[in-house]
Amino acid sequence: MSSSPSERGEWSSKTGFILAAAGSAIGLGNIWRFPYTAGENGGAAFLFLYLLCILFIGLPVMIAELSIGRHTRKDPVGAFDAIRPGSAWRLVGFIGVFTGLCILAYYCVIAGVTVGYIAKTLSGNTTSFTDYTASPMVTIPLLLLFIVITVLVVQGGVRNGIERWAKILMPVLFVLMIVLIIRSVTLEGASRGLSFYLKPDFSKITGKTFLAALGQAFFSLSLGMGAMITYGSYLSKRDNIVTSGILVSFFDTLIAVMAGLIIFPALFFAGKNPDAGPGLVFEVLPVIFAKLPGGALIGASFFLLLSVAALTSTISLLEVVTAYLVDEKHILRRKAVWIVAAIAFIFGLPSAMSMGAVEWLGELPLVGMSFFGFMDWLFGNVMLAVGAVFISIFFGWIWKRAKSTAEIEQGCPNYGAWAPVILFLLRFFCPIAIAIVLFFKFRELIAG
Ligand code: PHE
Repeated sequence: MSSSPSERGEWSSKTGFILAAAGSAIGLGNIWRFPYTAGENGGAAFLFLYLLCILFIGLPVMIAELSIGRHTRKDPVGAFDAIRPGSAWRLVGFIGVFTGLCILAYYCVIAGVTVGYIAKTLSGNTTSFTDYTASPMVTIPLLLLFIVITVLVVQGGVRNGIERWAKILMPVLFVLMIVLIIRSVTLEGASRGLSFYLKPDFSKITGKTFLAALGQAFFSLSLGMGAMITYGSYLSKRDNIVTSGILVSFFDTLIAVMAGLIIFPALFFAGKNPDAGPGLVFEVLPVIFAKLPGGALIGASFFLLLSVAALTSTISLLEVVTAYLVDEKHILRRKAVWIVAAIAFIFGLPSAMSMGAVEWLGELPLVGMSFFGFMDWLFGNVMLAVGAVFISIFFGWIWKRAKSTAEIEQGCPNYGAWAPVILFLLRFFCPIAIAIVLFFKFRELIAG
């Protein structure tokens, strides 16, 4: 996709957009973050809430973001400004861009570790996740490597490079995941894992579970910070925003649910704890690989494919911040990507050193989390939810109903029939539900 301030690119085709948006959505969020978040929050009860959040909150917000983007053909800051010129709404766009930058920074740390696991698995190195990530000589170069790869792909053109590779490799990831599910659910004791994951115990739901499910829904669908506004800005008027949004959400959810089916049976088989945190997937997957013929090769391929999935997500994060610099600050695209990359690297350093390398970064005073965990909580959960509240209000109350409906009807002629439902959700249900969850979360936080 080439875009200069005067001439914006467009996706090469309808499938090109769906692939790119699904590429942004599907990533470490589904395979790394979803299982450990579900594990920490009671398993099946979390899964249930998560699915509700996707359907009633994620999907409408996705439609809102895509239509705001396509209507204005702008980066998130410019988009709010175009619909409400000169208002404070551009601040919401700005917060989104900043959130994107911060997510990019810590996301590349774990994406780098994924790349490291390709070599680690191939060489038969059995160091634990904790010991592996404790070395800054491992995490920092891998962080740098991942950021540089992201920049090179974004510079080389999303269309020719990544679109083509993603088209081939993502289906391969899907097939490999099916193989892993089959192996995992046939392990001894798998049924205990399945019932933890699929049989809800609603007494486990607390305020914390709600924010975790909601935050995970936004994070996984790449919502709340303008990624879908930016991707929507390259959509053509012939494309159907509603069906595209449904397809992207469906595939994203499918991959996350599949990841759970791989992890939980194997976890109970190996006698590990579901609330092991960010290391969970990296500790459990090798258990399955060891049970497969040619496990090292299968394992390495899996981490390679996961790295590609992570790459299509970091591309979208980099793209949001770059689009802002290009559209609003009129910085040359070539230069803008490197500026963003340099800042992301610096912002990523404390996260890279918080997984065992520097003690106080591993357990921040006051917040009681690692720096990495804190970044993920603040930007990957809270700020996305805050952003989504404002995006819902903007779509529901600020943007004229006739205008938003006319925008979405291009490419989706029968949207008129659905408009009242979508508008109701975005006007009332989403902002109120998200605000309540955030309120309880903060009360819990203050109460200690
Ligand atoms: N959705 C991506 C994932 O699940 C992460 C992401 C979040 C990408 C926000 C863009 C914006 O891995």
